[in-house]
Amino acid sequence: ALSKIGRQDLAGKRFLITAGGTREEIDPVRFIGNKSSGKQGIAIALEAAQRGATVTLIAANIAAVPSEIQNVIPVQDTQQLSQKLNEQLAEQDVLVMAAAVADFRVANTASNKLKRSELGNHLQLELVANEDILANAVKRIQAEHLQVVTVGFAAETAADTHQLEELAKSKLAHKGCDLVVANNVANGAVFDADTNDVLILTRSGRTVAAQGSKRLVAAELLDVIADLQAK
Ligand code: CTP
Ligand code: CA
Repeated sequence: ALSKIGRQDLAGKRFLITAGGTREEIDPVRFIGNKSSGKQGIAIALEAAQRGATVTLIAANIAAVPSEIQNVIPVQDTQQLSQKLNEQLAEQDVLVMAAAVADFRVANTASNKLKRSELGNHLQLELVANEDILANAVKRIQAEHLQVVTVGFAAETAADTHQLEELAKSKLAHKGCDLVVANNVANGAVFDADTNDVLILTRSGRTVAAQGSKRLVAAELLDVIADLQAK
């Protein structure tokens, strides 16, 4: 599966990949974030580019994006990610939602730095739900009859592989995407690691296990996507 020298099986395909983790601002110096490093999404972007795809990466708070990825759109929060994604979506063949998107944002964002001397012993943050970007992208693809394969990610704390597969199946159904890549984060080992251990589930009922370097997992995922498109 791993990039065989010179293989251009994704030539002409346009991939929109989101990676990293969104940050929701509390005040000008503080945010609510998550543990996503962006490494798996970047590995997918590099592998797709090497196999000939045209890649656009929406990078949420990734410190160093490799220079081989030519089209990079940096974003911070979920609303920015949604806007940039929707500007790009209609032109794409594949959408890969590897980014960890904040489910909630701060409703009462402060425009000036919060000062502890003025806060006392309590700070109350009010959180409101963000949109589900992937679910809305799937709805838009259907409404506008776009031909975009959609890939969701699911980081779950599961007791075992069987439970992980069940959680991934329900996420696949709930989001309406074509594929879900599920990993078990119960032991916390995945974040910022260079390896991954995932189940790739397709809407058509296929389950493929992939483990190894994040680049190898990326290659396996792209093989499953290429198979879907060949049909
Ligand atoms: N996602 C999204 N918009 C959100 C939240 C998540 O597009 N507001 C995407 C993620 O990029 C990922 C997929 O949806 O590809 C699944 O994310 P996940 O957090 O696992 O799913 P949720 O539906 O948010 O469920 P929960 O966090 O409750 O498990
Ligand atoms: Ca979530």
